[in-house]
Parts: sequence; structure tokens; C-alpha cells
Amino acid sequence: MDLGIAGRKAIVCASSRGLGLACAKALAEAGCEVVINGRNQEHLTAAASALGKATGAKIVPVTADVASPEGQKALFAACPEPDILVNNNAGPPFRDFRDLDRQKMLDGVIANMVVAVELIQKAIDPMVAKKFGRIVNITSGSVKMPLVGLDLSSGARAGLTAFLAGVARSVAGSNVTINFVLPGTFDTDRFRTNIEATAKKKGISYDAAFAERVGTVPAKRVGQPEEFGAACAFLCSAQSGYITGQNILIDGGAFPGAF
Ligand SMILES: NC(=O)c1ccc[n+]([C@@H]2O[C@H](COP(=O)([O-])OP(=O)(O)OC[C@H]3O[C@@H](n4cnc5c(N)ncnc54)[C@H](OP(=O)(O)O)[C@@H]3O)[C@@H](O)[C@H]2O)c1
Repeated sequence: MDLGIAGRKAIVCASSRGLGLACAKALAEAGCEVVINGRNQEHLTAAASALGKATGAKIVPVTADVASPEGQKALFAACPEPDILVNNNAGPPFRDFRDLDRQKMLDGVIANMVVAVELIQKAIDPMVAKKFGRIVNITSGSVKMPLVGLDLSSGARAGLTAFLAGVARSVAGSNVTINFVLPGTFDTDRFRTNIEATAKKKGISYDAAFAERVGTVPAKRVGQPEEFGAACAFLCSAQSGYITGQNILIDGGAFPGAF
């Protein structure tokens, strides 16, 4: 399927690995010029070079912390008027909510809510003027099915979802869409680190913890990042202009509800 976005410019935040990288790859395959981002320069440079070779697209690596004002400035210096913005950032570690002091809570809300809003503030007016914009926010299945211990992530991301629900409607008439993609269990470094932590906590092997986790997924497997990237790229396509303000769960059937 031709997604109709060849030549469009995209910023994909937090994209040197995992789900962000998969989104960047799918957009590059669709012919976009893509700014990719991460804090570790070595990983980022390697990812940019591999992506450029694999897709033939122009890939611009920006080493920066997306949560910092300087980092955001660097991203927009590399691509001042993106047609496509994919918001992503690291999620918080598992923690008992009793262990969250005020500063940790504020940091979590900044990381998984405020940063995305700030980036959208920077990107949206030129999108409205051009009558084309696609914004995808990577959140989490925990927005719909909260996980104990990831309470800060669930809360901040649900806050982002509600915050942007009104914003999405305010720009829909200018062919600017804002959607959310909610990952369930995807095979990334973050997922593997979480499985290692679970195995350690329960005193079981990595394989046993992995099997336990996969057992909770009706699809009986973990998702592959490319599957996630493809869905993100479709939400950025020319054809997706009538989809906005939506939460798209990609979780192998893990969420048990029909709506
Ligand atoms: N994988 C899953 O199954 C799953 C499920 C639910 C939700 N999620 C959420 O989806 C998001 C992506 O997860 P993932 O599994 O792809 O994670 P990952 O494999 O750990 O990759 C995270 C990426 O983000 C970059 N990054 C992290 N913090 C950054 C920052 N402050 N500024 C710029 N780049 C940053 C990392 O590069 P550097 O470290 O070099 O900065 C890396 O490229 C996370 O918010 C996660 O909580 C994932």
C-alpha cells in the first residue's frame, strides 16, 4: 500500500531502539525523511546508518534528551516544520506507589505527559497552516488496563490521552490528526529488562518469567516491533485523515473488553 507520504518530514522521538526505531523505519520505508533521536550517541549513529542503508531514506540523527528544553530545541532545529511527529519517551521503572515522593511523581508526569504536549505545541501551527499533520503518541496498554507498579506511567499517559482529546478535535478540520498507539507486550530491550526484573523478584528463570508473561497474551507470543511500526505509519498516512483522537491497542488480544 502506498501511504502517500513520500517526501514528508518526520520527527520520531526516542527512536534509536525498540518501538520508536520501528516507527522510524516504517516511515522511512514509506519515503519520509526522518529525524531519529536518543541519548546514547553511539547507538543512535549506528541506528541511523543502518536505517539509511536499509531504506535509502534521508535519516538525521539528533542526540538529545527529548525531555529537556535543549533536546526539544535540537530536534526542531533539525526539522523545524515536521509533517509527522511521533512522540515517545522512556517509561518509568516498576515501583510501589508508596515509594513515589512528590518529585518522582512530577518527573513521571513530565516524562510521559508534559513532554509530548510541549512537542505538539511546537509542531502544530505549521501543520494547521499546511493542512497536513499526523501526530502519533506512543503510550501503553496500561492506559486502558492499568498495571500495579506502573501506576505513574498509567496515570501520566491517561492524562496525556485526555488532554489531547480536545486538542485533536480542535485541529481535525485542518487535516491534522492526533492518535495514540498503545503497546501491549513487545519484544524490545525494555520488555526484556522487565522480564529479567520479574524473574529476579520471583526467583525463577528468565525463560519461566517469559513464558508466564506470554501466557497472559491470547496471541501466545510477544509482538514484533515491525508490527507496531506498520500501524504507526498507517496512522501517519494520507489515507488516515479521518481517524483522530483514537486509542489503538496493539496487544495480541490482551485487553479483555470489546470497546
Ligand atoms: N515494549 C513494550 O512491550 C511496551 C509496552 C508498553 C509500553 N511501552 C512503552 O513504549 C515506549 C517505548 O518502549 P520500548 O520498549 O521501545 O523501549 P526501549 O526498547 O527501552 O527503547 C527506548 C528508546 O528511547 C530512547 N530514549 C529513552 N529515553 C530517552 C530520552 N529521555 N530522550 C531521548 N531518547 C530516549 C532510548 O535511547 P537512549 O537510551 O539512548 O536514550 C531508546 O532508543 C516506552 O514509553 C514504554 O514504556 C512499551
